[in-house]
Amino acid sequence: MTIKKCCILFGVCLAFTLNAQNRIPEVEALLQKMTLEEKIGQLNLLTPGGGVATGEVVSKNVEAKIKAGQVGGLFGVAGPEKVRVAQELAVKESRLGIPLLFGSDVIHGYKTTYPIPLGLSASWDLDLMKQAAQMAAREATADGINWNFSPMVDIARDPRWGRMAEGAGEDPYLGSRIATAMVEGYQGNDLAAAHTMLACVKHFALYGASEAGRDYHSVDMGKIKMFNQYLPPYKAAVDAGVASVMSSFNDVDGIPASGNKWLLTDLLRDRWGFEGFVVSDYTSVNEMIAHGLGDLQAVSALSLNAGLDMDMVGEGFLTTLKKSVEDGKVTEEAITNACRRILEAKYNSGLFDDPYRYLDSKRPIKDILTVENRALARKLAAHSFVLLKNHGQILPVKKNQKIALIGPLADSRNNMLGTWAPTGDTHLAVTVLEGFRNVAPNATIGFAKGANIADDPIFAEHVNVFGPRIEIDERAPEVLVDEAVQLALNSDVVIAVVGEATEMSGEAASRTDISIPESQKILIRALVATGKPVALVLMSGRPLTIPDEYELPVAILQVWHPGVEAGNAIADVVFGDYNPSGKLTATWPRNVGQIPIYYSAKNTGRPAPESGEFQKFRSNYLDAPNSPLFPFGYGLSYTTFEYSDLKLDKETIGQDESISVTVTVTNTGNFDGEEVVQLYLRDVVRSITPPKRELKGFEKVFLKKGERKEVTITLSPNDLKFYNGQLEYVAEPGDFEVFVGTNSDAQLSKSFVLK
Ligand code: NOJ
Repeated sequence: MTIKKCCILFGVCLAFTLNAQNRIPEVEALLQKMTLEEKIGQLNLLTPGGGVATGEVVSKNVEAKIKAGQVGGLFGVAGPEKVRVAQELAVKESRLGIPLLFGSDVIHGYKTTYPIPLGLSASWDLDLMKQAAQMAAREATADGINWNFSPMVDIARDPRWGRMAEGAGEDPYLGSRIATAMVEGYQGNDLAAAHTMLACVKHFALYGASEAGRDYHSVDMGKIKMFNQYLPPYKAAVDAGVASVMSSFNDVDGIPASGNKWLLTDLLRDRWGFEGFVVSDYTSVNEMIAHGLGDLQAVSALSLNAGLDMDMVGEGFLTTLKKSVEDGKVTEEAITNACRRILEAKYNSGLFDDPYRYLDSKRPIKDILTVENRALARKLAAHSFVLLKNHGQILPVKKNQKIALIGPLADSRNNMLGTWAPTGDTHLAVTVLEGFRNVAPNATIGFAKGANIADDPIFAEHVNVFGPRIEIDERAPEVLVDEAVQLALNSDVVIAVVGEATEMSGEAASRTDISIPESQKILIRALVATGKPVALVLMSGRPLTIPDEYELPVAILQVWHPGVEAGNAIADVVFGDYNPSGKLTATWPRNVGQIPIYYSAKNTGRPAPESGEFQKFRSNYLDAPNSPLFPFGYGLSYTTFEYSDLKLDKETIGQDESISVTVTVTNTGNFDGEEVVQLYLRDVVRSITPPKRELKGFEKVFLKKGERKEVTITLSPNDLKFYNGQLEYVAEPGDFEVFVGTNSDAQLSKSFVLK
């Protein structure tokens, strides 16, 4: 029960208690006053581009529409002054004075950009992720934003898809835990509090399964896979009370998500009990015309009837719904219901109490890009890095050496933030070169570019849509490599910062070849040929195929795109001030032919031999093993951990019982460090084919060198459940195998029986 107080806008001042199931009296009273046109207006979400405040790039139409009560929310407008101008238009100049929602894509930090979500997920640290979301909410609300188009929770098992960067990887269990942490971080306990904002889980649904990893492509998936593998993170966000849901671009069972009644009403509202509002993705209603579902009036009516409440940018609702009511295609009641949900969100955000509540001009300086926020971004980045290989313990590097810092990403401010950081500022990013100088002031650090990120100008043009990311040097590639080799020869150790430019992943950034571009491969080989110890610091927004680089005698530290504190965080880890503890949240294939590849695949009736050797008439390839280069959950440390003494507290459990799994972990190396203890479960026999194993628990623990700890993870009754052939959520009696260890290949195992 929440106490809400007076509503100044309607001149009624009453205190009352609100039950989530009940209608909100203020909203109902307002609905009574609204014309059909005004209700339709609330369903319209616009982005005015340059900002309503300045008047420069302002679309006059946006202003006029706000005044006419034809806009429910805006995005792309930020800063208390600008937002106030727009809010005043709505509150003071529209007939009913209904405040606007102000949305934004705060995907990985507002101004204090932290690692891309795929990187953040690799920390496996839910508390840190929640802190990250809280920081993002604090900064965004300080700038007048009260609605965030995040978290993106699409399960992704195809690294060709560029938007894998925006999510938490391949696993529904981990993805669900992260979805919950992010929603809780953004929304807190009170949506009307000054530092919280409405979250929007996206992209509902299955966007991560776009065919061939090509963005916006079709999705075709059976319900069992959907319910067990792809839907859980969206459901977790709904269970955590997410205020809004964004429909996806793709079709689900032949009907685009934005017009899919089964998805938006039967599943989301009726089965899951979602009570918030659903917004389309950018023009996704209009795009149903290209999908082949009819003209704008038809697709807009289809969407509204399916359960879509708000139309992002396309204005199909605004321009056609009234006619659809007249034509009997849509009822006014359906429009009222959609409008009610949007008004309720505004009410819950406290905007009816005070439409200017997020517009305190003193807050930006106090809350944005503070020393504490930057410190958190640095910590988040360091915790997201994954040590993939450490040949000869090249890492960590001593601070008093001659270091050759080489590579097209070693001094590239434009590529540190990562994809989808439109509210961030590349100028504020710390380059790797700067970070090295900050953290190791006594080292002798030489820099050489060594190579272009890619040599192909057409490819560079495709990537450089938001500014220079791939800058092709005037010098010939051979000259760049020679200079780097000379520097390497005159140094004690080589750190090569290589990989993808920021916009080589992200929206509309699918790749058919996910290896390191050839220009950089040549550089890497030349550096290794010098005989100097070489560590690769690898940046990317997705798993890459690096079998050749893996074979070289190098260290490889995967750092994703680390955000505004990139250089400092990389230096912290390279010089050993922080011992890497990240673990992959998506499988790294050997080559694109293995895609889709994920650890929780099924066994098939003809499983490949355990040895990995090819066998005819088995489920394997002629030319490569089935195993990936790096499995899900993989990541090394500067120290080593040993697992022993796996114990279960019971051998048999009943349907309502939990079971505790205990393992001893020992730090057997020479550094203090953190380890992510992972628990996988195999349901041995059941009514539908089970995955080989599934993550069902994890715990990140810190162990001093030589320290030993018992770690206990408890499996709850729900952890044994799955959606059966009738889509009922059940646990079936029988044998279960538990695996515990350092990644999804964990071998220590025990069995128990569910009665
Ligand atoms: C399109 C993207 O798919 C979505 O993630 C984003 O929130 C909207 N554009 C708004 O910018």
